[in-house]
Amino acid sequence: MTITTCSAPGKIYFFGEHAVVYGEKAIACAVNLRTRVSVQPYGGHVISSSLGTTGLDTVIHPYVTQCIREMEQYITGGVKIDITSDLAVGSGLGSSAAVTIATLRALSVQFDTGHTLDEIAAIGHAIEGKVQGAASPTDTFVSTMGGVVTIPGRKKLSLPECPIVIGYTGSFSSTRELVANVRSLKEDYPVAIDPIINTIGSLSGYGEVLIEDRDYIALGGLMNINHGLLDALGVGSLELSNLVWAARKAGAWGAKTTGAGGGGCMVAITDHPEEVADAIRSAGGVAIITSPTHEGVRVE
Ligand code: MEV
Repeated sequence: MTITTCSAPGKIYFFGEHAVVYGEKAIACAVNLRTRVSVQPYGGHVISSSLGTTGLDTVIHPYVTQCIREMEQYITGGVKIDITSDLAVGSGLGSSAAVTIATLRALSVQFDTGHTLDEIAAIGHAIEGKVQGAASPTDTFVSTMGGVVTIPGRKKLSLPECPIVIGYTGSFSSTRELVANVRSLKEDYPVAIDPIINTIGSLSGYGEVLIEDRDYIALGGLMNINHGLLDALGVGSLELSNLVWAARKAGAWGAKTTGAGGGGCMVAITDHPEEVADAIRSAGGVAIITSPTHEGVRVE
């Protein structure tokens, strides 16, 4: 019986999370941390991951369950799906997009559905929207296509040559809740919050130029500003800021929350990845040294 395995990368945001929900520019970057999904024909539907083994289950495996539903017309009988991942669930590294895109691609290859990568990215985005309530296309697009891209413009930028250090606080954060919190803040105080969101979009614009110029020191400075603005939107946490400041003190060019915030991860760029990773560990975080990748979803 054939088994198809696909993997898809997680991502970090250099700039623009939350602001991108309101159409502002963001810059996201696929990183060398991947989720692998194996698919094989089976008597019924079975989904196995570090979260447990279930059938179709909208609580434990909401994204994969939705992927199977989307592809149901192509699936003969059932499927057994096995998931392994370098990405912690709810870490803000695009774990849900990576599992969604890897699953859709594996189902598409296994059952020869003929979906293009653009179609997979679009279906993945719709699934994230259904499960999370609101989602920008960033995570699913970057996980499908790889590289460093602007959203919503979908322009591919030069791949930064600097190491990336991720610091994980160890605490889960709910994108759905955090997006809803920012929305109500924006509705309550539009005159104060709208300019913050616009400024984050402007940072992405400046950042795009700096990435092309390979000016990572200036890029880091703008990431620091973006971190402050995410705090102002209420998506910071003591743990995140501790890791951010530890990374900066260890010489990082810039460090900020990445993803929805509230917990999850921060990201730093630096030419001293080992020192920055040690500082993050000493401040109580889990440190991962990684790098940008051109590669999006792929058949293993
Ligand atoms: C979450 O990784 C990023 C947010 O901007 C939400 C989204 O873009 O869907 C907070």
